[in-house]
Amino acid sequence: MNITVNKTDTPKQKPDESNLQFGKIFTDHMFIMDYNPEQGWHDARIVPYGPLEYDPATAVFHYGQAIFEGMKAYATADGAIQLFRPEQNMQRINQSNDRICIPPIDEVFALEAVKTLVDLERQWVPKAEGTSLYIRPFIIATDAFLGLRVSQNYQFIVILSPVAAYYPQGINPVNIYVETEFVRAVRGGTGYAKTAGNYAASLKAQQKAAQKGYVQVLWLDGVEQKYVEEVGAMNVFFQIGDEVITPPLEGTILPGITRQSVMELLRSWDVKVSERKLSIDELHQAFQEGKLVEAFGTGTAAVISPIGELCWGSEIIKISKETGPLAKRLYTTLTGIQTGSLEDTFGWTVKV
Ligand code: PLP
Ligand code: COI
Repeated sequence: MNITVNKTDTPKQKPDESNLQFGKIFTDHMFIMDYNPEQGWHDARIVPYGPLEYDPATAVFHYGQAIFEGMKAYATADGAIQLFRPEQNMQRINQSNDRICIPPIDEVFALEAVKTLVDLERQWVPKAEGTSLYIRPFIIATDAFLGLRVSQNYQFIVILSPVAAYYPQGINPVNIYVETEFVRAVRGGTGYAKTAGNYAASLKAQQKAAQKGYVQVLWLDGVEQKYVEEVGAMNVFFQIGDEVITPPLEGTILPGITRQSVMELLRSWDVKVSERKLSIDELHQAFQEGKLVEAFGTGTAAVISPIGELCWGSEIIKISKETGPLAKRLYTTLTGIQTGSLEDTFGWTVKV
């Protein structure tokens, strides 16, 4: 499929790189392609970034048939631009699509589209330390019909946003609220897919946590509220003694690409990593016994985010006010590979 390019006549001014936040500024162009049952995915185009117009009856507004991805483009010191394991994001789009009946995309073509858009917007990839160009592909159901059924028509859209750290804390530890009332996902649900609805369902708990002064929520399993699952926008790792533990993929948490990469890095360093169930009681007990060494979240937006403390009911599990050595080493290695300052021995990066 060809990608047509319609360039803007009114390019925007680039932001001050030393003052970037997360997800507030968008580049000059976006990628769009349409789907209908007759033509499949078609009409791939890059157009000026701007508002889109939809019928008020459009399916996505009512029943939330939408998925999204989050990935980043990084500037290297020698002027190149690279993506990090982008084929994994494309694969995950199709996993998410499958769960909520969106037709599959051609993963190779979709990655080509992302690269073409990023290439056109090269000047927007920030170079300052800790910054990157966040890439947000998403798919929405576009039938204008109020009956509840699988939509026939869709749009795949990619927008770009120059960003700095996701949390205002930067890479300093964040404090997290353990949610014991609401749940995010249950087995058989959509937890493993990156569907918009998962995030809508998470907002009430996030709001509650924010009111108590916590930046995000640590979700427990949806059945017993006993086992640790993941954080609002990241997977979690806990070091207890010499074992680094992350919850297993059993359909309720997002299979994070950063999570997978962190496990591969840790194993390459001969650190003992376990994907296993971890109850909040075990975590609390490890804390009381002085065995809880480090905790951190992993995600594209969040990178490696050390966890300072967990609030669990009336208990405060204080981990550290400072970033621990493991989180620091992971952050340095991961961002080093992503930005090309460290050799990519894993073959994770893809040049644009
Ligand atoms: N879990 C949730 C709920 C997320 O939104 C994210 C962010 O994408 C992650 C985990 C981390 O996934 P990844 O490392 O692929 O960005
Ligand atoms: C990402 O890390 O890319 C995410 O999708 C998190 C998002 C909720 C901001």
